[in-house]
Amino acid sequence: ASVVKVGLLGVGTVGGGVLKTIRSQQQKLSDRLGRRVEVVKALVRNAEKQRSVPIENNLITTRFEEVLASDVDIVVEVMGGVEPTYGYVRALIEKGCHIVTANKELLAKHGTELVRLANRHGVQLAYEASVAGGIPILGVLRQFLRTNDIVSVSGILNGTTNYILTRMEQEKLPYAEVLKQAQELGYAEADPASDVEGWDALYKTYILAQLVFGESLPLHAAERQGIEKLHLGQIGLARELGYRIKLLAKASKAGGGLQLSVRPTLLPLDHPLAQVQDAYNAVQVSGNIVGDLLFMGKGAGELPTASAVVEDLAYLLTQRFTPQPVWQESEPAGNREAGEKRC
Ligand code: NAP
Ligand code: HSE
Repeated sequence: ASVVKVGLLGVGTVGGGVLKTIRSQQQKLSDRLGRRVEVVKALVRNAEKQRSVPIENNLITTRFEEVLASDVDIVVEVMGGVEPTYGYVRALIEKGCHIVTANKELLAKHGTELVRLANRHGVQLAYEASVAGGIPILGVLRQFLRTNDIVSVSGILNGTTNYILTRMEQEKLPYAEVLKQAQELGYAEADPASDVEGWDALYKTYILAQLVFGESLPLHAAERQGIEKLHLGQIGLARELGYRIKLLAKASKAGGGLQLSVRPTLLPLDHPLAQVQDAYNAVQVSGNIVGDLLFMGKGAGELPTASAVVEDLAYLLTQRFTPQPVWQESEPAGNREAGEKRC
């Protein structure tokens, strides 16, 4: 049988999970695709590091040029960050490789150019794992909620902060200690400031807005507040008053203007989003036909994220190329002249 040759950028928490999943689900993937899926080259920073998966000879390299020169059909980008990742992904698209990425920061900062570039080169750019970990929310929005007018999409989009808030409330542990646990569990970003300051949730909200509204706001125009200043006293007081603090992310288009926000929010204890614990995420979508929908699942961690990556990869391989809708950024409502309308 023929082989799909896959390149992997990054063999950390997610990359290790992707290797494990491709190996453990090989038979199912081959049956579905009629081809074996084989990771033939994997880029890391430190070739000597101990990995969570067995690594065969010649798989690992520390030179991107080796991945670029290898005969791969598709590349999974799970190394994170913007530099040098953006340049690598551009070079791979220009070479004609399909891309699967979990990198929300890259997409929120350069998605517009990457979608345009992928369309121009006739390759697919897939990014299900970039929002809400294992919850296949982007596929649902893209395929099954297109006739609805979506009023808003909101929810808990960061596993690390939800884990921290849960453990602080339940075990009265100090912030720094639970953040360290979240890092050890593989939930946090390489620089956890991205999680606790609300950036990571904002990147995901930006991507959701592109899919739902066909546009997003420049990141600087969104309202963003993290949980880094919250302390045990505030969490305990909220609880005594019948509330729970959650880092709530929202994209909405009320009154014509698009708004993006991420902020700690008091939710009554019986609110569905107040029930979302640990590294779980939840996404609430309100459509004019369907009403309110709630999707919940593990939003971070090795296997839930690998699930989204591998499902994306397999789905992509069953699809013919069609250009994606271009991504656009609109001016924040407040920046428009009085009386000026968007057409
Ligand atoms: P990670 O554990 O830090 O792994 C990053 C991997 O990329 C490591 O193998 C590292 O090599 C390699 N790498 C980083 N910079 C590199 C460079 N400049 N050159 C070569 N290799 C480089 O990160 P992760 O948690 O797997 O996250 C990866 C991506 O997935 C990020 O975009 C993240 O936002 C996204 N994501 C993560 C999760 C999660 O739960 N962790 C969930 C959804 C999405 P070494 O191992 O040699 O250091
Ligand atoms: N650091 C991210 C989080 C990983 O905690 O949600 C999943 O995107």
